[in-house]
Amino acid sequence: MALTIGVPRETLAGEKRVATVPEVVEKLIKLGFAVAIESGAGAAANCDDESYRAVGAQVIDGAAALWAASDIVFKVGVPTSDEVGLLREGGTLIGFVWPAQNPELMQQLAARKATVLAIDSLPRQLSRAQKMDALTSQAGVAGYRAVIEAANAFGRFFNGQITAAGKVPPAKVFIAGAGVAGLAAIGTAASLGAIVRANDTRAEVADQVVSLGGEFVKVDYEEEGSGGGGYAKVMSEGFLQAQREMYAKQAREVDIIITTALIPGKPAPRLITAEMVQSMKPGSVIVDMAAERGGNCELSEAGKTVVKHGVTIVGYTDLNSRLAKQSSTLYATNLFRLSEELCKTKDGIIDVNMEDDAIRGLTVIKEGSITWPPPPLKQAAAPAKPAAAPVVQAKKGHGHGAASEPMAGNKLAIMFAVSAVLFWFVGANAPAAFLAHFTVFVLACFVGYMVVWNVTPALHTPLMSVTNAISSIICIGALVQIAPPLAGGLPPDPWIRWLAVGGIALTAVNMFGGFAVTQRMLDMFRK
Ligand code: NAI
Repeated sequence: MALTIGVPRETLAGEKRVATVPEVVEKLIKLGFAVAIESGAGAAANCDDESYRAVGAQVIDGAAALWAASDIVFKVGVPTSDEVGLLREGGTLIGFVWPAQNPELMQQLAARKATVLAIDSLPRQLSRAQKMDALTSQAGVAGYRAVIEAANAFGRFFNGQITAAGKVPPAKVFIAGAGVAGLAAIGTAASLGAIVRANDTRAEVADQVVSLGGEFVKVDYEEEGSGGGGYAKVMSEGFLQAQREMYAKQAREVDIIITTALIPGKPAPRLITAEMVQSMKPGSVIVDMAAERGGNCELSEAGKTVVKHGVTIVGYTDLNSRLAKQSSTLYATNLFRLSEELCKTKDGIIDVNMEDDAIRGLTVIKEGSITWPPPPLKQAAAPAKPAAAPVVQAKKGHGHGAASEPMAGNKLAIMFAVSAVLFWFVGANAPAAFLAHFTVFVLACFVGYMVVWNVTPALHTPLMSVTNAISSIICIGALVQIAPPLAGGLPPDPWIRWLAVGGIALTAVNMFGGFAVTQRMLDMFRK
């Protein structure tokens, strides 16, 4: 029987988001689920009960009745212990859980024999997981809102203007940390006309900063800032000292600072000291997006706006709730994409497939047993050292451990020996013309395999566009085989013709697929 997805009203103070919106309810129903919403759950995100009812959701009064009616609960905020008490025994919960920070909650959920999918634990580096990545979707909205908050607290225009009443210089904005939120802030501030500068410990983001209209300001100190998986690491004291000097200089020059710097599992790095705040021009603004995790600015206060040394310091921790409709819509879409992965049969029944890397990563409790933390990923989208012995890396990643490596080596040797014998057999018996083609074919397969294997999975989509060119070569070759012979030439064997027809059909899949993918990629960059 089809399962019911229930969406309760969020209970944390100040939380205005809702885990699904009417546009997405329709899609969930098409997947075969029934959807129940607690009355008033979407009110703060501009989704009233009527709009849910209109698309086929059942609206239920009261949290207890809603939780009791739900096989699967979609939530935004981390559940409270009261909410865990309402979860059906053996039920499924999907939402933010932060298992590392909430061990007690994990025990409570396990005691209810629940299956829990923590959207925060999704392996974000898998390109397939991007559509489900709620951390990214929410950080993007928060980065945008941080700029709006800054503009609200700032007493001037962002863009430069020449008016009859005088010349207005553009505002200067400095963004500390160019992750998802930082990049969104850079794009927003640049589009409002400000001069935008940014810094991050991970040098690889410099190009992204520039592509969004910002200028990357380097710290004058050589140190690799990447801690793996696209995240930052704690830097050495020498680096931090050099960074502080650079930040102090920026603080004197700019009008607005937006800080977004975080390191997974650590308190937010302190980047803006009290002296730096004091050195800023009166009327300047700081938005500290890391306020909840201890703050990037020494003087910020979580959840509040304070004015210190004439500088307004915004420490809001509810930036997403301040754009509740937008955040909820994106979050709801992330959960819908996850539901698609869980319900490939489209019959309203979910299969939590622990063989699937993405699902395995975010399943933190399965039927009452804690499955967090997950084993290391089989493949990383961004390998630490590109192209370093890729074949061996892939074998290692299959989770057999170091002991299986000699086995893998033996297998490889056996494969080589068997191929050599086969090749010798073909060479000894086949006609010379066939052998020449066969050699080219084997080499092409080998080169093709090595090329694709060396491309990180995150780049497989653009790679598919490039393979269009290769497909067209295959297509031309096949057309030559089908074409009627030139005067005096021999007609090709019918089976060669049919092989060529098959070749064209297969390569057409690649060509049209490549065009479709290219089109989708280009659409992502079009406004
Ligand atoms: P985050 O919220 O943990 O950190 C924000 C930013 O602060 C990061 O860019 C980090 O490098 C920077 N930072 C940390 N310490 C700093 C310091 N002392 N000074 C200056 N900057 C500092 O990270 P977020 O935004 O969640 O993601 C970070 C990166 O992860 C993204 O830029 C992206 O490259 C990567 N990512 C990759 C995905 C994929 O491969 N599909 C998906 C999502 C994220």
